[in-house]
Amino acid sequence: MVSYKDLGLVNTREMFAKAINGGYAIPAFNFNNMEQLQAIVMAAAETKSPVILQVSKGARNYANQTLLRYMAEGAVAYAKELGWEKPQIVLHLDHGDSFETCKSCVDFGFSSVMIDGSHLPYDENVAITKKVVEYAHQFDVTVEGELGVLAGVEDEVSADHHTYTRPEEVVDFVTKTGCDSLAISIGTSHGAYKFKPEQCTMDPNSGRLVPPPLAFEVLDGVMKELPGFPIVLHGSSSVPQEEVDIINANGGNLEAAVGIPEEQLRKAAASAVCKINIDSDSRLAMTAAVRKVLAEKPGEFDPRKYLGPARDSMKKLYMHKIVNVLGSDNKA
Ligand code: G3H
Ligand code: 13P
Ligand code: ZN
Repeated sequence: MVSYKDLGLVNTREMFAKAINGGYAIPAFNFNNMEQLQAIVMAAAETKSPVILQVSKGARNYANQTLLRYMAEGAVAYAKELGWEKPQIVLHLDHGDSFETCKSCVDFGFSSVMIDGSHLPYDENVAITKKVVEYAHQFDVTVEGELGVLAGVEDEVSADHHTYTRPEEVVDFVTKTGCDSLAISIGTSHGAYKFKPEQCTMDPNSGRLVPPPLAFEVLDGVMKELPGFPIVLHGSSSVPQEEVDIINANGGNLEAAVGIPEEQLRKAAASAVCKINIDSDSRLAMTAAVRKVLAEKPGEFDPRKYLGPARDSMKKLYMHKIVNVLGSDNKA
């Protein structure tokens, strides 16, 4: 058993309370490799932003859970080396799919876990979330639950259609489970294709697809039922079109990729939404930079020559999210 407290990590409780009161959101960035982690830590340290390092089940399989745990411990030491005296870094399991996965993360030094029972019948979602909470809270590890289904791919689970969260269920769910935060479905989805072209309109000036607005009335309904309770938004990448263009101009093929407009995320961050999950944007920034270098310098074969620019580009992206979208800078 490894306690996250011995690794210098923190849970989400205090940072969420501050974020709700302060009208900003904490970035939850997924990572599965060293360059992503370096970019996240550099961006958070430079902006003094609390940060959540998220690890999916796929990332655990890809990078090895032991290595990831030491990387998170290393992230705290690295942040201090960068001059961030008291780093506020959370190590969080993203989309935990079973009690066993969540327990193993709690036992392994994670400070926060998500149990994603959103695809289960309501009563089963309540039961599994409650079980995870009862275990995790013994070690002061915070737990995120989910109600409502996002369209798109979540690890090995994928759904064609979203089902908005039903505000009339949230009080019962939170009371019965004791979860510390709640992920809700208001129209975001995972990946780089968040809306079908037929759901969008076309901007006549840019020729770009304009997605439909998020269902803020659902968020309002949830906040009315659960005043001051921490709300989480998954699937919140904006799919920067500049990155998509670079990828497509350098041999890629991402047709009709579209994300959540930043002004909608700013609006969400100012509300009780205190955790915003971003993964795809980092993947796009990394891929665009790598494709560009390799296309321009076909003789290059030193990974540092293309992963270095990829890291720079991700750092820029993370800083932009922190400062211009979520507003979490200078909060740690
Ligand atoms: O919600 C999904 C995250 O973007 C993680 O994706 O399962 O491919 O690592 P992954
Ligand atoms: P994106 O695919 O929009 O980056 O969402 C990531 C996410 O929700 C991770 O849990
Ligand atoms: Zn997610």
